Amino acid sequence: MNTLLLGSTKEDIKTAADILQNGGVVAMPTETVYGLAADALDGEAVKKIFLAKRRPMDNPLIVHIAEVGDIERFNLVSEFPEKAKKLAEKFWPGPLTIIMKKSSVIPDEVSAGLSTVAIRLPSHKVARELIKESGTVLAAPSANRSGSPSPTTAQHVMNDLCGDIQAVVDGGMCDVGVESTVITLATKTPRLLRPGLVTVEQIEEVIGHIDVDHAVLFKLESDEKVSSPGMKYKHYAPKAKVVLLSGDSEKFIRFVNAEFEKDSSVGAICYDEDIDSLLCNTIPIGKADDLEAQAHLLFDALRQVDKQGGFTTVYAHCPTKTGVGMALYNRLIRAASFEVISLE
Ligand code: TXA
Ligand code: MG
Repeated sequence: MNTLLLGSTKEDIKTAADILQNGGVVAMPTETVYGLAADALDGEAVKKIFLAKRRPMDNPLIVHIAEVGDIERFNLVSEFPEKAKKLAEKFWPGPLTIIMKKSSVIPDEVSAGLSTVAIRLPSHKVARELIKESGTVLAAPSANRSGSPSPTTAQHVMNDLCGDIQAVVDGGMCDVGVESTVITLATKTPRLLRPGLVTVEQIEEVIGHIDVDHAVLFKLESDEKVSSPGMKYKHYAPKAKVVLLSGDSEKFIRFVNAEFEKDSSVGAICYDEDIDSLLCNTIPIGKADDLEAQAHLLFDALRQVDKQGGFTTVYAHCPTKTGVGMALYNRLIRAASFEVISLE
């Protein structure tokens, strides 16, 4: 299949919307990461997403809407809870996904057989225009090959899926850089399933206490029941081994330099301030105190590890588990297969 690389003019969006209306699959920019979109109300179209990504069929997709009114207009949920309305008012459009009880219009391919559906209203102008123009709502997982880091540029998407999808709409580099926060309201107490730029602390200000799913911060035991199927798959890992180091920058630099003396194929994903002190090749992800900058660059950094090549082990700082740090920790700990060395 020839993959069209489109810009984001009105014409381009029309071309992409035509493909979607004909049951095709198109990658689109959102403020978090690029998504691989198909008509969410057409099960056959949605199947093509799974094929292109090689995604396991038991992992459900997020339905993207262009405005809050789409939930009722397309009759997406069987119940639109008060707490969902409050969250929508505060955080939409933006990087928050809300899981609710689904209605019968949601194909099984989207919900992977669950009784719930995940809904998100992105803030990216191009995404919203494309959803509107397509005249439906769009199911879209991240537009990476299953298992690799989510794409934050059109080029990342092309590297993974060129030849397997009909088009990519290029809307520039994604602002946020990590996927949306996912919360379910289908449980008795609301529960965070995936941390993102919208933090636990911010959500609790709006709807009170929420639980944080065990799998957000800890490795799943093989017999553990998962609330969100996506959490059980290996994720974000480059080919080189990633290891997290907990401890301050001074200890980080000392440890990495000592390892580099023993093995020159060691590298570091580090803070901007570390670069001059590190002897090894570095991939900087922003200033130590700027978590949003780190989120913005994280997936590109993980892709850089393979692109630069020649690394056997890459060390990265172990992020804090609060605020936006929770989102960074959740992604990095998976990239590192849960391997953390304490330098404290
Ligand atoms: O920022 C984002 O959310 C991006 C952009 C494209 O919108 N999308 C994204 O989709 O990250 P995906 O499919 O890569 O991640 C969705 C996560 C998966 O871990 C999936 O298991 C979970 O949300 N999920 C989706 N529907 C669910 C449901 N009904 N119940 C539980 N988990 C669900
Ligand atoms: Mg994904």
